[in-house]
Amino acid sequence: MSRAEAPAVAEEVWESLRQEAVAAMRHAYAPYSQFPVGVAGLVDDGRVVSGCNVENAAYGVGLCAECGMVSQLHRTGGGRLVAVYCVGADGNVLMPCGRCRQLLWEHGGATCMLATPRGVRPMTEVLPDAFGARDLEERRG
Ligand code: THU
Repeated sequence: MSRAEAPAVAEEVWESLRQEAVAAMRHAYAPYSQFPVGVAGLVDDGRVVSGCNVENAAYGVGLCAECGMVSQLHRTGGGRLVAVYCVGADGNVLMPCGRCRQLLWEHGGATCMLATPRGVRPMTEVLPDAFGARDLEERRG
């Protein structure tokens, strides 16, 4: 699907995603960073999936909120993410880290829309020139 074919996401849907993300953030396990994060995503069949960060005493083992969301995406039937909203403790929009942008690319692709502090942006803007499955197909030796 090209960017032009991506379905528009209504303002009320963005607000409900934000509220789902806040609800998820309240379950975060972030005793080390004291930085709870929540994220919610609209799936192409209308489901909403969400996640929170889960840290670990071995810091590098900690899971970002997006990891939990993607796990729920697959556990509940798969599909593609079409719109994603990530929040911090204050309930305001938060940019996903670089690693999680790659996760969103894998499970939403170029047309997935992301709430950002500068407004709603397609993944092609928040992860330009992304590496993805197509690179593997085209460049595998
Ligand atoms: N974090 C997320 O959950 N998602 C992001 O996209 C940014 C960072 C978490 C990881 C860690 O538990 C805390 O925020 C501080 O970096």
